[in-house]
Amino acid sequence: MQKTVTLVITGGIAAYKSLILVRRLKDAGVTVVPVMTKSAAQFITPLSIAAIAEHPVYQDLFDLKDETDMGHIRLMRDCDLVLIAPTSADFMAKMAHGLADDLASTAVLASNKPIIVAPSMNAAMWAHPATQTNAKTLMSRGIEFWGPADGDMACGDVGTGRMVEPEVLAQRVIDRLSSQDRPLAGQRVVITAGPTREAIDPVRYISNHSSGKQGYAIAQAFAQAGAETLLITGPTALPTPSGVERININSAEELMSATQSCLPADIAVMCAAVGDWRVAQTANEKLKKSSDQDSLSLTLVKNPDVLHTLGHHPNRPRLVIGFAAETENLIANASDKREKKNCDFVLANDVSIGTNTFGGDDNRITIVDADGATSWPDMTKAQVANKLVQTCVERLKAEKS
Ligand code: PMT
Repeated sequence: MQKTVTLVITGGIAAYKSLILVRRLKDAGVTVVPVMTKSAAQFITPLSIAAIAEHPVYQDLFDLKDETDMGHIRLMRDCDLVLIAPTSADFMAKMAHGLADDLASTAVLASNKPIIVAPSMNAAMWAHPATQTNAKTLMSRGIEFWGPADGDMACGDVGTGRMVEPEVLAQRVIDRLSSQDRPLAGQRVVITAGPTREAIDPVRYISNHSSGKQGYAIAQAFAQAGAETLLITGPTALPTPSGVERININSAEELMSATQSCLPADIAVMCAAVGDWRVAQTANEKLKKSSDQDSLSLTLVKNPDVLHTLGHHPNRPRLVIGFAAETENLIANASDKREKKNCDFVLANDVSIGTNTFGGDDNRITIVDADGATSWPDMTKAQVANKLVQTCVERLKAEKS
């Protein structure tokens, strides 16, 4: 796990448990940057923490070596989260009032990272209205409290005030750090990709030039973001991206029933190049050509529109995203499709001759939503996929708040 935790250890008997906490985090591959207050150093030695963390311990605000490059700011900005364990009543009070008279309190005040507090104190100190008010103030600022737990105290009292056990804290940190990389964990995403094939007879079909590259890249990116990812794909030469469930289809009608059977879903991304038309009557035998025949007429009938159906479905996913493959009037046509098919947004791409959008590794996207159109810079299809995932994460977050 390529993650860094700044661990602030304040003064309390539970400080000895920080050694176990550091060890567990290190076992999971987390880099631990320890900061200790003067009181913490009364309970355990900085040397022990430094040895287990395999990292120097920061203690002094006025350490010239550390502070020449604004060390107290960097301590808090270069990490993924800040854990204060144990957090004494005194340190909570300092945090609540914005005091910054030592390295630990100054660094915490300068932090722009998630801060988690693991309180540890006598039950009467925890229950005191002053401490409770401080806790409420800190919580209202978005600081998370893990604990305190109930049980026996070092002083002989029994009650609420114990630091949560270090193994439990370590596991919660590890879970939290993993979910930072998996922002779509718990979300179900349905993606369509590749071409459809509309059979003319047992050996011939109508299709298009979609290689599936863009849709597969999108499936890969969603899976990496932790989503349960279902990829409904027309025939392609591509391997299934890891962590993705693949459903093979040929025709638009098969695509339609596969997509509906994947509902309910949180997000749908319709990247498949779906044939708008199919042959009215597919021949059961290979069509023969006679010597006196100069032409062949096929009657085509309209295929179902999968995206339109999803956009108006009673079980509509929270985010319905379409593509628009255009050779002219890119934005106007994409806006029109977005409205008619009731999509949250449409990724419009130019597929005119010479663009190499079909089959190539790059794509030039203009994203069209209810507020208008925004062009993305030229990107690889993998970059488009990542940017799409990021856009979805932001939209879902905005929806929640
Ligand atoms: O596969 P690649 O080689 O990587 O190429 C990528 C791509 C060009 C195929 C892809 O980026 C793309 O644009 N996909 C959509 C192609 C398409 O069918 O566009 P459209 O403008 O005809 O359709 C608009 C939207 O409606 C699309 O989301 C499409 O999936 C959907 N649709 C269309 C017709 C239909 N019957 N059912 C649908 O769901």
